[in-house]
Amino acid sequence: TETKLWGGRFTGAQDPVMEEFNASIRFDKRMYKQDIEGSIVYAKAIAKAGLITDAESETLQKGLQDVLEEWKAGSFVIKSGDEDIHTANERRLKEMVGDVAGKLHTGRSRNDQVATDMRLWLREEAATIRKYLVSLISVHLNRAQQEVDALMPGYTHLQRAQPIRWSHWVCSYASQLTHDLEALDSLIHRFNECPLGSGALAGNPFGVDRQFIAQELGFRGPTANSLEATRSRDFITEFLFWSSLVASHLSGWAEDLIIYSTKEFGFISVADAYSTGSSLMPQKRNADSLELIRGKSGRVFGQLAGFMMTMKGLPSTYNKDMQEDKEALFNVTDTLESLLQIAEGVMSTLTIDEVKMKSALAIEMLSTDVAYYLVRKGVPFREAHGLAGEVVRMAEDKKCEMDGLTKEDMRTVSKHFGDDVTSLWDFENSVEQYQAQGGTSKSSVLGQIESLRKELGSE
Ligand code: ARG
Repeated sequence: TETKLWGGRFTGAQDPVMEEFNASIRFDKRMYKQDIEGSIVYAKAIAKAGLITDAESETLQKGLQDVLEEWKAGSFVIKSGDEDIHTANERRLKEMVGDVAGKLHTGRSRNDQVATDMRLWLREEAATIRKYLVSLISVHLNRAQQEVDALMPGYTHLQRAQPIRWSHWVCSYASQLTHDLEALDSLIHRFNECPLGSGALAGNPFGVDRQFIAQELGFRGPTANSLEATRSRDFITEFLFWSSLVASHLSGWAEDLIIYSTKEFGFISVADAYSTGSSLMPQKRNADSLELIRGKSGRVFGQLAGFMMTMKGLPSTYNKDMQEDKEALFNVTDTLESLLQIAEGVMSTLTIDEVKMKSALAIEMLSTDVAYYLVRKGVPFREAHGLAGEVVRMAEDKKCEMDGLTKEDMRTVSKHFGDDVTSLWDFENSVEQYQAQGGTSKSSVLGQIESLRKELGSE
């Protein structure tokens, strides 16, 4: 039976079920590269601190490179007893370079090692996710620009509210996702500090140069406190929360599009590439892509909630409970990457039906405009709102739309209705009122596109 790295004080063998229960190699092998990167820098740092010779450091670094090559080539063989990626790499290093391998871990613990590996891993993964997010936002902005003129109903309570531009809806998600992008950048900045050199909990007794380690690994500096560094998984919790927020945005986005894609609405049509049919009903065309985006957001929230429960009330500092961070994080990053890619695919290939959108607009959605018309004639808004309500009721009584009322009809409600009242019954005029920044007029939507483009470009 193989000896464990920590086997010195043990005499009895481990229950094989316990061994399997305890091991994380099955999933943490995903961090093989980061684990080796950290070790290479640590091999430099302990030479710099005079703990090993430069020649020994070279041997370790070279050996670690060779282990990395094995992983990359797919030839690394995981052996029973390889508890996690850290022990597996060290075991293999020893097979390759001999006993000098035993010097690598001097002053280091798997506690500062794993915290470092995970930050390195997440930093890379976050960069990939960031790229997907940026391109999803760009697709939105391109669509908004190209289809800036299409009008459709805007909803509150899913009831027809006011006419808006389709492009305004598109920009609303581009804007929300851009906030997500900002939040991602700030959370990356927060966790981009290096725990290595914190030891098991108390720090490093051999005076390794933590500035050097941090710099070599591309961190903005070392973490400030060894207890916090080995205990904290805030960077993971924050990332899971961030992912949850993004997933909730995408879920709402998907829900809107699912509604818009129904035959009853018919505003959009999801491309074949992102639709499926029914095994029974030949006419069916289902937006499974969007439903899965909506559905999979649930598991992201679940991982956040589950992981917070794992972390809650743990005593300082490292506890094995924390090994649970990995599957939560990996599951969420995998899920989020597919959500973002599929969302981009759906958004760049769907088609809109401007005629359907326009025909869903109803004159009753201009009731607010009737009130604004009166406001522009000097009537206080509260009074104007009441008078517009009377116009609505009058049309209802006469079983027509408001544009079916005569000027004379309307003058019985208010003498302020003039000859220009017919200009009210125009959806284009309606949306063009909203010129103030952030509104649905053409100039405002174009302004939004421009400033969001700037935010994306200024990176
Ligand atoms: N596999 C462990 C984890 O992921 C590594 C840290 C182990 N540290 C320890 N003291 N047992 O959390």
